[in-house]
Amino acid sequence: MQNPIIAPSILSADFANLQRDVEMINSSKADWFHVDIMDGVFVPNISFGFPVIKAIKKHATKLLDVHLMIVQPERYIKEFKDAGADILSVHYEACTHLHRTIYAIKENGMKAGIAINPHTPVMLLKEVIKDIDLVCLMGVNPGYGGQKFIENTYSKCADLKNMILAQNSSCLIEVDGGVNEITAQKLLHSGADVLVAGNYVFSSKDPVSTIASLNNLSAHTVNA
Ligand code: DX5
Ligand code: ZN
Repeated sequence: MQNPIIAPSILSADFANLQRDVEMINSSKADWFHVDIMDGVFVPNISFGFPVIKAIKKHATKLLDVHLMIVQPERYIKEFKDAGADILSVHYEACTHLHRTIYAIKENGMKAGIAINPHTPVMLLKEVIKDIDLVCLMGVNPGYGGQKFIENTYSKCADLKNMILAQNSSCLIEVDGGVNEITAQKLLHSGADVLVAGNYVFSSKDPVSTIASLNNLSAHTVNA
């Protein structure tokens, strides 16, 4: 089994030193940049938009994993591609025509992901699990970094893994929110492939080694 994919969340970066933090991630063992877009409607918070994504893209040497916490995400698919998104995730709860939106993301040359809130059962993804590249399982209610992990995410992760295996899907499981070394280890046991970490990475004394220790977890867990 491979090491987990680590995606530090830019939401917890120092925006006055964004280039420095982007270069820190470039130099680390992180695989992706996790980029959170919040509209103040789907979630109570507002983060940032296209100019900031473009600025990150200019310096990033790794994939941009863009997580849209916005209503009507289908209105902006091409704009996110043009801004630099490589993977684009929309929320299940924000899409009426989810299947159409998934294919619009793919037609625009990006990997397609679906994010689900803590209250949304994974079973609702059954009809689209073979069409998507990623499920972003929220470990917290979306809107803010640094929140406490919701424990039933472990069983959701295991249920989702079973669904993926049963349908022979190549979809990855990403967990977003409340990830630290302890929750990460249990999530890897439950079938997670991608760990998003914001507060845990950026509030640590040495973010590069914190990223490395998350990346190294599978060697002692999944391989065990
Ligand atoms: C929450 C965001 C997360 C957030 C994770 O709404 O989608 O990506 O940055 O933050 P932590 O790791 O601090 O819980
Ligand atoms: Zn996110």
